[in-house]
Amino acid sequence: MTAFDRIRAVFWESGRLHLLDQRRLPTVEHYLDCTRWREVAEAIRDMVVRGAPAIGIAAAYGVALAARERSERELAAAFEGLAATRPTAVNLGWALARMRRAHDAGADAGALLAEAQRIQAEDVAANRRIGALGAEHLPAGRAVLTHCNTGSLATGGYGTALGVVRSAYAAGRLTRVYAGETRPWLQGARLTAWELQADGIPVRLIADGAAASLLASGEVGAVVVGADRVAANGDVANKIGTYALALAAAAHDVPFLVAAPLSTLDADTASGAGIPIETRGAEELLSIAGQAIAPPDIEVWNPVFDVTPARLVDALITERGVVARPDAHAIRRLLSAPAHE
Ligand code: MRU
Repeated sequence: MTAFDRIRAVFWESGRLHLLDQRRLPTVEHYLDCTRWREVAEAIRDMVVRGAPAIGIAAAYGVALAARERSERELAAAFEGLAATRPTAVNLGWALARMRRAHDAGADAGALLAEAQRIQAEDVAANRRIGALGAEHLPAGRAVLTHCNTGSLATGGYGTALGVVRSAYAAGRLTRVYAGETRPWLQGARLTAWELQADGIPVRLIADGAAASLLASGEVGAVVVGADRVAANGDVANKIGTYALALAAAAHDVPFLVAAPLSTLDADTASGAGIPIETRGAEELLSIAGQAIAPPDIEVWNPVFDVTPARLVDALITERGVVARPDAHAIRRLLSAPAHE
């Protein structure tokens, strides 16, 4: 680990999976230890670990834990149970498919653990590359606005959109980061603000509702977000509120950039209309830190992701290259390009 990348939310040590409990940040830094796949599944469902690449990586380790039980039945239950934890991030299914291929090729528990560790290491390497490529695409000497948390906490390490932020800041190209608080779970306020502060990167927190005014002010040179799934036509599912940011960015001619590894691209889903959008419980909207903020019997709709149409995306930054104005043709070309262009 290096400067600008000191946090590991997911790691394997001494025969256990360690997960930084993101529900308790920024006040408490506590790791949960998992020795059973069911604990990993529960941790993903309950948001101990969150962020598209990180849940895929955690699930891969979950399979490795299940393999230690030496029961094909338990392993099959693990594949099924882990896949059912959260529906939107395609990285989960991607990582499980990779683990299944390794298993089908004869990998034992040790080899499955090695595969999970490879998935994590490859994710960090992809993020470093995304960071380097993305930094060049940010207008120099300006601020950026980001949403949710896409950093070390949400990935194997370093981050996607926050990887771009880290690389741009290290290169002296960035004045500051504006982090939207990201209602209702507050990934921006609780996680992104904490993560960037830990790295000494200047960060200013805004209420989600302040984003359009910020974009109108002219201070922000680009909006940079991550993704949970990019459909074959370039539509982007990401944290709820991303679509509103893309609309506001377009209205003010601010570039809207999406940073995501290839494991987030879903060639099998034609457009955003086919992406399953997770809705979570009403309690996320009804209280903050145990304090009621709405009448308890109020009706609630709590979708936690939205879809930004490809036409609002100025560039998709992947480890294999940057695609300007992504569409079905450009995404097909990217996916069929050699790994090192
Ligand atoms: O509900 P979460 O916190 O898992 O949602 C996370 C996001 O929406 C991130 O923006 C996305 O997973 C990209 S993380 C590199």
